[in-house]
Amino acid sequence: MNEITIIKPDDWHLHFRDQEMLLETVPATARCFERAVVMPNLMPPVTTAELAVAYRERILAARPAGSSFTPVMTIYLTDKTSVQDIKDAKAAGVLAAKMYPAGATTNSDSGVNSLESLYPVFEALADNDMLLLIHGEVTQKHIDIFDREKEFIDQHMVKIVERVPNLKVVFEHITTKDAADFVLAAREGVAATITPQHLMLNRNDMLDGGIRPHNYCLPVLKRSTHQEALRAVVKSGSHKFFLGTDSAPHAKHRKESDCGCAGCYSAWSALELYTQVFDELGALDKLEGFASLYGADFYGLPRNTDTVTLVREAWEVPTSIMLSTGEPIVPFFAGKQVAWKLKSA
Ligand code: NCD
Ligand code: ZN
Ligand code: ZN
Repeated sequence: MNEITIIKPDDWHLHFRDQEMLLETVPATARCFERAVVMPNLMPPVTTAELAVAYRERILAARPAGSSFTPVMTIYLTDKTSVQDIKDAKAAGVLAAKMYPAGATTNSDSGVNSLESLYPVFEALADNDMLLLIHGEVTQKHIDIFDREKEFIDQHMVKIVERVPNLKVVFEHITTKDAADFVLAAREGVAATITPQHLMLNRNDMLDGGIRPHNYCLPVLKRSTHQEALRAVVKSGSHKFFLGTDSAPHAKHRKESDCGCAGCYSAWSALELYTQVFDELGALDKLEGFASLYGADFYGLPRNTDTVTLVREAWEVPTSIMLSTGEPIVPFFAGKQVAWKLKSA
């Protein structure tokens, strides 16, 4: 097959950032995604309905002319989030709340220290038909960084899913066979997003022959057996797994540093790279479900009606992208060939 047309996809997990950066990130995503779940880890974080509504306006203002792109807003849970905050968020059209264990990832310092005290908030999410989105890694420093996702499942995920049985939970950007198996075996109402980098790469791609800071993201890339498990699960066509790029830009100098930031800016190539992976797996017939159907179904939103077409045509991801501020960003897969290309309308 040299061409594939699918219902227009949505991105169920990304980071747009703010201010001038929106003029880069919003058009880059709107070129092929109809909707995107916007993560709230700004500095300071988007913790309330009011902040989410204002952020939504800034995103809408950065859309290219004529674009129908729609951001799906989230709020950031802290130790202080109240049941009233959830009700207010619901009233403002916010669909989900994001839970970062404090210190787990980029801009998560205001995240949650005591999960136990958040159960009333989790109940409120379920009562208001909102989703709980989880960065699933423990933060205990004595736990090996490669084991932190598995530990989170054992210490917290099992409990959250059992104790609030009507809560919809998305296990974000899963990276291990353990997480894939957990989601497969879990009750209905539990799903996961998977990034292009975790399908395409394993930790050798970050560490073999030199450190590749642009392949560094969190949860960190794992060994190839885990990568294979993620590829198998998307190939299976299970409706519990859907597209979430985790596109997460950082300035070049913040990535290429003695303490580099975590995050891959994949918006320029993510859809094409997912297509390449499904092609490699001989599973192009499963791409549409993963990219365009299962996420909308899980969120309880209508499926899109427009389509996009991808063609088998090699192109090269630019080595760097210049922001209007003059600051360069190195995109994910910079300088590398991608086998599929979005056909413009
Ligand atoms: C994300 C970011 O930069 O905001 N980074 C990352 O490595 N994934 C945060 C996150 O999604 O955990
Ligand atoms: Zn995360
Ligand atoms: Zn993310």
